[in-house]
Amino acid sequence: MEGSLSNSRSEHFSQILEARVSRRDTLRGGLGLAATTIFAGAGLSACGGDSNGGGNTATPGLSFNSIAGSSADAVSIPDGYRMQALIPWGTPITGSFPAYAGDGTNTAAEQAQQIGANHDGMTFFPLPEGSGSSTRGLLVINHEYTNPTLFAGDGRATDMNGAPTDADEVRKDINAHGVSVVEIAQGTDRNWGVIQGGFNRRITAATPMMLSGPAAGSEFMVTAYDNSGMTTRGTVNNCGRGFTPWGTYLTCEENIQGYFITTEANPPREKARYGLTDTGFGYLWSNVAGDPTEVNGEFARFDTTPSGPEAASDYRNEANTFGWLVEIDPFNPAAAPVKRTAMGRFRHEGAEPGRIVDGRPIAFYMGDDARGEYIYKFVTAEAWDPTQPNPNMLDNGTLYVARLSADGSGEWLTLDYDNNPALANDFTSQADVLVNTRTAADVLGATPMDRPEWSTTDPNTGEIYFTLTNNTNRGPDDTDAANPRGPNTHGHVIRLAENDDNPAATGFVWDIFVFGSNANADPSFNISGLTLDNEFGGPDGLWFDRRGVLWVQTDNGAPLDSDTNDQMLAVVPAQLAGDRTVNPDTQASLKRFFVGPVGCEVTGVEMTPDYRTMFVNIQHPGGNWPDGGSARPRSATVVISREDDGEIAL
Ligand code: FEO
Ligand code: CA
Ligand code: CA
Repeated sequence: MEGSLSNSRSEHFSQILEARVSRRDTLRGGLGLAATTIFAGAGLSACGGDSNGGGNTATPGLSFNSIAGSSADAVSIPDGYRMQALIPWGTPITGSFPAYAGDGTNTAAEQAQQIGANHDGMTFFPLPEGSGSSTRGLLVINHEYTNPTLFAGDGRATDMNGAPTDADEVRKDINAHGVSVVEIAQGTDRNWGVIQGGFNRRITAATPMMLSGPAAGSEFMVTAYDNSGMTTRGTVNNCGRGFTPWGTYLTCEENIQGYFITTEANPPREKARYGLTDTGFGYLWSNVAGDPTEVNGEFARFDTTPSGPEAASDYRNEANTFGWLVEIDPFNPAAAPVKRTAMGRFRHEGAEPGRIVDGRPIAFYMGDDARGEYIYKFVTAEAWDPTQPNPNMLDNGTLYVARLSADGSGEWLTLDYDNNPALANDFTSQADVLVNTRTAADVLGATPMDRPEWSTTDPNTGEIYFTLTNNTNRGPDDTDAANPRGPNTHGHVIRLAENDDNPAATGFVWDIFVFGSNANADPSFNISGLTLDNEFGGPDGLWFDRRGVLWVQTDNGAPLDSDTNDQMLAVVPAQLAGDRTVNPDTQASLKRFFVGPVGCEVTGVEMTPDYRTMFVNIQHPGGNWPDGGSARPRSATVVISREDDGEIAL
């Protein structure tokens, strides 16, 4: 769905280097440096003192056997584990708790009180706040998008152009987007259930939100809804997620171009570079603008074509208020979500912090998921002080974009109008740089990547891992050291280590951790030597648990020899021999833990603090899961535990 709009002025590495011959040596060189530096600084048994809940000693190996691939309409997990499907789409969580209607006839108002569609990134916040409880907490879940199964019959009512005609159906669509905050608890039978408590909340594509940071209140944010440019309504396409050490959740706005349209012949760069068209993904919510029930342009705002004399009188800037990271306080249902503009505007996929150390700034690592887009980090201006957390810490800091060199080194390029003269010709202010983050990264010569998705931080080493899900547009002559396969049908996982393990470093080293592939592919493509036990494609969700187990989730469209549905694998990178990559010598350490039902994507993973309960999201299942029979499919959270109640995976 994403086109390649990147226009980086960087030279492609293939032009610098007759790539393939020296690539492996280069990677090993870079990796060796990373490993030496990081292990000397941290060590496998010495990560106490940070605030990530580390403190582990050397991590034992994975205790389960890799499970077979599966094309069944069911969830597969290892022997000795049990599972439960929790909070499927439509589960009532708030208000009058309207029951789920299996025929799609729930109204817009009812959907606003129920779990949304297409679960994605999530975080578990123990209750009471700060307690470390593993039996009760708030699950905060993204709902990425909607499908026709949202509506009664075969889908929504449309005109001859396929545009919606029923305002309540459009409102239902809007209300099925966003985020759910839901209290859950484990019962005496060990099953988890929803608590109908006061924390429960739906945030939708219509919820009022604050804008903060340098772009808030700028000319780019002025709309008919708020002439001051300080507020907007809603969040959409919430895909990956992040979190902060002060107990808040970050939801990431990804494919905003699917929702906002323009019919301008020459749209401004803040629309063109972000892929806005006259149809988006076909939601076309503005088609019901003018409906007698419309309130304050609630539908009209999705058409950003100028219609009035100035920005204050129309919604030409509405899409500028999307494409951000949104901070949510799950413990305060009355608090408006805040869009943190200092962290840049792009198709945000994830936003995990690097290792959090008292007295140091915090870096958040972020991908822009489209072909040829970039990897970013945001470094807070303030150092982290757990005794005095600043709730607005994400408004002040420096945004960087990554340039990766063929020798295994990398550079963080500063997206700061006041401190980088290279931005002076193309921009007028930091607000301009932030609203047009992609263009600013182009100007600085960032490295176009194969669709950066989630990032995560190894608690053992501090290294940052990114999924690069695939890039079928990359040609064989267009490869570089960091994106060495063209076309890249199966994706790979890249790893960065900041110089001196410093979150504010402007240099880093990198290497490639694992290449996705089908098992029987030629070794020149199946570089990691994967087998039927661990072949995968389309790595997307990615998460280190606090013990150092790396969980890799897939959103795959490429062929696999076992014809398996999407899945989740695990590996402990810090324990791998040699250069600590997955390669033909170490690949058996990468084990398949979970396979989802037919047609789904596996995305979003979390655990309770005691590692005895795991939550995994199933998105857009294509069969009849989880209700079975002829029921319409529902995205849901799978709760996994061990039958002997031991720690998961180890
Ligand atoms: Fe929503 Fe990039 O996956
Ligand atoms: Ca994703
Ligand atoms: Ca994806």
